[in-house]
Amino acid sequence: TNRQDERGSKQRLLVVANRLPVSAVRDGVESYHLEISVGGLVSALLGKKNEGCMKLVVSVEGVKEFDARWIGWAGVNVPDDVGRRALTKALAEMRCIPVFLDEEIVNQYYNGYCNNILWPLFHYLGLPQEDRLATTRTFQSQFDAYKKANQIFADVVNMHYEEGDVVWCHDYHLMFLPKCLKERNDKMKVGWFLHTPFPSSEIHRTLPSRSELLRSVLEADLVGFHTYDYARHFVSACTRILGLEGTPDGVEDRGKLTRVAAFPIGIDSERFIQALELPEVQAHMKELKERFAGRKVMLGVDRLDMIKGIPQKILAFEKFLEENSHWRDKVVLLQIAVPTRKDVPDYQRLASQVHEIVGRINGRFGTLTAVPLHHLDRSLDFHELCALYAVTDVALVTSLRDGMNLVSYEFVACQASKKGVLILSEFAGAAQSLGAGAILVNPWNITEVAASIGYALDMPADEREKRHQFNFRHVKTHTSQEWAATFVSELNDTIVEAQLRTRQ
Ligand code: G6P
Repeated sequence: TNRQDERGSKQRLLVVANRLPVSAVRDGVESYHLEISVGGLVSALLGKKNEGCMKLVVSVEGVKEFDARWIGWAGVNVPDDVGRRALTKALAEMRCIPVFLDEEIVNQYYNGYCNNILWPLFHYLGLPQEDRLATTRTFQSQFDAYKKANQIFADVVNMHYEEGDVVWCHDYHLMFLPKCLKERNDKMKVGWFLHTPFPSSEIHRTLPSRSELLRSVLEADLVGFHTYDYARHFVSACTRILGLEGTPDGVEDRGKLTRVAAFPIGIDSERFIQALELPEVQAHMKELKERFAGRKVMLGVDRLDMIKGIPQKILAFEKFLEENSHWRDKVVLLQIAVPTRKDVPDYQRLASQVHEIVGRINGRFGTLTAVPLHHLDRSLDFHELCALYAVTDVALVTSLRDGMNLVSYEFVACQASKKGVLILSEFAGAAQSLGAGAILVNPWNITEVAASIGYALDMPADEREKRHQFNFRHVKTHTSQEWAATFVSELNDTIVEAQLRTRQ
């Protein structure tokens, strides 16, 4: 097959993403420990052996059909060579290759251009409004840092590249990478995949660097998105902004075709299903059931990010309690909000806004012995998380926009016995795949979400069963392994087709 080279060994795959699946965290002046990173791509590609963190073997097990390596930012500033060498060695055991970025670049590239400009724009939150003039002034220097960071990534990839390797670039952090790679070696097979939505071309065209980024992405051989709509928006941006031709296969520029297609990601569902059998997870489940006996459990699990619609979710919960006094002591909402991107001001503002609403709701509806809303500013370990998913009656995913949202997949995977209800935002990519089993909502419409909470809590068992079966089948069959294998084989085919075309 084309996943094997002539020698019969596995094909080498270089996964390149801003963040490695493990991030280094500083303990002391020269000591670090490694922690698993949080986020969609990491959840999708982490293998079964990864719970124990430090001793993990291949962190790219999700793509185990390939001889894979993962290249990404180490997540920490390591200025000295001794530290860099030590970290490189520790990561090599996990087949991870670190990219070192100095503090100033991280600030301008990661906090600035990626998370203050591209992330909000791609999620329809627009370009930063505040102090618009200052933003315009810093914009160019942030874009320069973005390009510089992408060049640094390209140098590391180039250093580790061997002929025949497939290079798979990920996400909005690395839109400039396909161009940098092809400049270094035009024979490289390069794929690029976006984990966020790609917005309508009318949104994308507000970005000052709109054309440069599109042109760079088009240097890739294959460009992938989670949904057909995102792919369509990208093609429209290329036709309307660059004046190129859109074809059913992608975008054409003077005879050169860049293939564009949808490849919806999934999870390693077996990892969750099997975890539920572990004594440790069963013990957590028992504890949770005792703790919340007599109450229905509702659950939210999100990074503490503006796009997740956490304030909207808890305001809807408040409205539900307001209107349904008989539920007040019979339901609890557990909101796990994992802190993220804490150096970006919008994220800091969001944290205080959420804390204020949580305080108000518990003040209004709590009693001396119980509160209706538990809000945790931290992540849970994998076993605790599985137990929580399994005992939940209703999961609430209210993203204002979300590339896919794998929390909804993880919840479904853990619900084989309970058959709980998923309330899911229509603006999450997952609404396209789990829409028939979930209750779809517009998260901006708090009245509608509050009504859906009531509907979900009262839903008869046979309807829950039917909805669950639909989603469970989907989550079990559309896995992350299949996603990765499909993308890479499509990339190989694209290159073979292009070679045939040029020979004709
Ligand atoms: C999203 C992005 C990922 C990112 C993750 C966590 O899922 O698509 O690329 O890694 O968020 O965000 P962070 O900024 O902490 O890497």
